[in-house]
Amino acid sequence: MQNKINITFGKSAFSKLPKKFSEKKYSRVFILVDNNTNKFCLSDFISITGFDKAEILIMEAGEENKHLQTCENLWKNLSNKGADRNSVLINLGGGVVTDLGGFVACTFKRGIDFYNIPTTLLAMVDASVGGKTGIDLGSLKNQIGVIEEPKQVIIDPIWLETLPKNEIRSGFAEMLKHGIISSKKYWQTLKELTDLRVSTLKEFIKPSVKIKKEVVLKDPREKNLRKILNFGHTLGHAIESYFLINLNKNKLLHGEAIVIGMILESYLSIHCAGLKIEVAKDIKTTFLKSFKKIEFSSDDKKEIVKLLKHDKKNIGDKINFVLISSIGKPKIDVQVPEDLFEDAFNFYLSD
Ligand SMILES: NC(=O)c1ccc[n+]([C@@H]2O[C@H](COP(=O)([O-])OP(=O)(O)OC[C@H]3O[C@@H](n4cnc5c(N)ncnc54)[C@H](O)[C@@H]3O)[C@@H](O)[C@H]2O)c1
Repeated sequence: MQNKINITFGKSAFSKLPKKFSEKKYSRVFILVDNNTNKFCLSDFISITGFDKAEILIMEAGEENKHLQTCENLWKNLSNKGADRNSVLINLGGGVVTDLGGFVACTFKRGIDFYNIPTTLLAMVDASVGGKTGIDLGSLKNQIGVIEEPKQVIIDPIWLETLPKNEIRSGFAEMLKHGIISSKKYWQTLKELTDLRVSTLKEFIKPSVKIKKEVVLKDPREKNLRKILNFGHTLGHAIESYFLINLNKNKLLHGEAIVIGMILESYLSIHCAGLKIEVAKDIKTTFLKSFKKIEFSSDDKKEIVKLLKHDKKNIGDKINFVLISSIGKPKIDVQVPEDLFEDAFNFYLSD
């Protein structure tokens, strides 16, 4: 993996791509979109870059398509359209497109170059940055994948104008996480935002990316420090998976599931990392200002705890958590007694 993260902000980087691509002597340009970014972003992207000869690959939108079958269709499509090892793939979309497209690129003919153009807030501040590519295995999140940096990530908020409000909120959740794990000041600033309009949030994209980038640069392969980015994600991923496989439940967006995970893991932090109860309560209140509370039955909770056992951060049969001892002070590899999970849900569900 290259130990370099190339992130550019601003629209002008799009128009520089053709020159860059001809210097790199790419034989063919492929653009991966999902049905929404096909509709909302592709024509603008082509008119800015002039890539009107690029081959377009389209996948169905949504986490339920972040699967091997979609990859197989795309590998076949690349092959049928004559992609060779010198071809390049541009992933134009949210985290599903950048995660899956990155994986497709890394594995096609043992790896072709790829570029990420994130079009959701979540992908801008998190998913497109840091080189984690991958897909889900059945209901288990991100079980298959590789870590490989895109050649470049180009971030510009122009795409956010068409993004639904709940998707904006989902991205905001990961930005709040950046504050919780790394900076009291950043957490304080974000938590005081009263409206989540693009015009307000866009100035915080760069600071959030900076936090993620600095962590990834220090530990690209997640041996130690990078684990802090998983705060809220151990329970959050299990909750996301559970709502995805349960057809009688409304699906949760990634950020919505992670918010619940962060509240539950704040509670666990009181008991296992010395977090002050007032801080855990403040985290809960802050999230619940923007995110609706979700009900969990006792069966739901049991199934979620079962899914926890598959978390990638586990070692042997031990479930490892990232907890916090205060805002900005994460603790990695903390093992939590199972009987605290029930209390954590009660903390989330209580008034
Ligand atoms: N690789 C990482 O480090 C990392 C980090 C965090 C999250 N993730 C992954 O990211 C995924 C979530 O990403 P996401 O929230 O971007 O989801 P997503 O890619 O599903 O996008 C959300 C929705 O917005 C639509 N959309 C995208 N851009 C749009 C635009 N400009 N206008 C209108 N609609 C648009 C998409 O079609 C989709 O319906 C999850 O799979 C998660 O596991 C990865």
